[in-house]
Amino acid sequence: MYTALLHTHKAVVILFLIIYLAKTVLLFVNKETLAKFTKIAKIPEMIISFLFFGTGVGMWFMMAEPAKMLFLIKVGAVLISIPLAVIGFKKDKENKALAVLAMVLIIAAYGLAEMSRRSVAKQDLAGITDPTAQGYEAVEHGKEVYSKYCVSCHGADGALGVSGAKNLQLTQLSTAESIDIITNGKNAMAPYKKVLSEADIKAVAAYTATLKK
Ligand code: HEC
Repeated sequence: MYTALLHTHKAVVILFLIIYLAKTVLLFVNKETLAKFTKIAKIPEMIISFLFFGTGVGMWFMMAEPAKMLFLIKVGAVLISIPLAVIGFKKDKENKALAVLAMVLIIAAYGLAEMSRRSVAKQDLAGITDPTAQGYEAVEHGKEVYSKYCVSCHGADGALGVSGAKNLQLTQLSTAESIDIITNGKNAMAPYKKVLSEADIKAVAAYTATLKK
């Protein structure tokens, strides 16, 4: 469900940006065409705005706690850009600078969205433990890694399902396939290859296998 919302949201944002970009270009190049374009785009724009906010609100309720702060900043940027855009495109006294500023804000908001997905990957390397050290227990170490990096979405028992996280108790994946997803990420789940060492990833995969029911 979250993943469907996320994909819809992204597609809608791209459409929105294309329309907005076209309008901004026309504002500079040809006002008559802009007027025609604005008329034609009116209904699609309304549908897009509705989907944009609808999917955003839906995602908010399913989002992991750490993602919410950046989400709020994004919402702020988008909310500020709306009046700027409205003034920017006002018929008789259009203001090109404001129209461009609104677009920059919207693009910045979506840069932030991408960053927030990757920022999970900015925490310190968890590979404190040397897998060749005496007494190293992969599953035990995996549990530590899991409680630090994974519980926010998957929950302590693997079944929480925040941000569309798959239920790890019911997963059909082999350990190798799990390792691949943990390493490279998938949809709302960030890649962990820059956060965790290979040994950490193996260990956490081994731990998640113990959650299977
Ligand atoms: C931001 C939330 C989030 C965090 C944090 C997160 N995951 Fe995920 N995880 C997901 C989502 C969403 C999916 C489903 C991806 C898909 O298939 O669309 C998923 C899928 C998985 C899968 C595949 C399950 C299956 O049956 O397809 C595994 C394994 C997994 N996560 C392990 C982990 C581990 C280990 C960590 C910590 C290192 C972690 N996840 C952290 C969101 C998260």
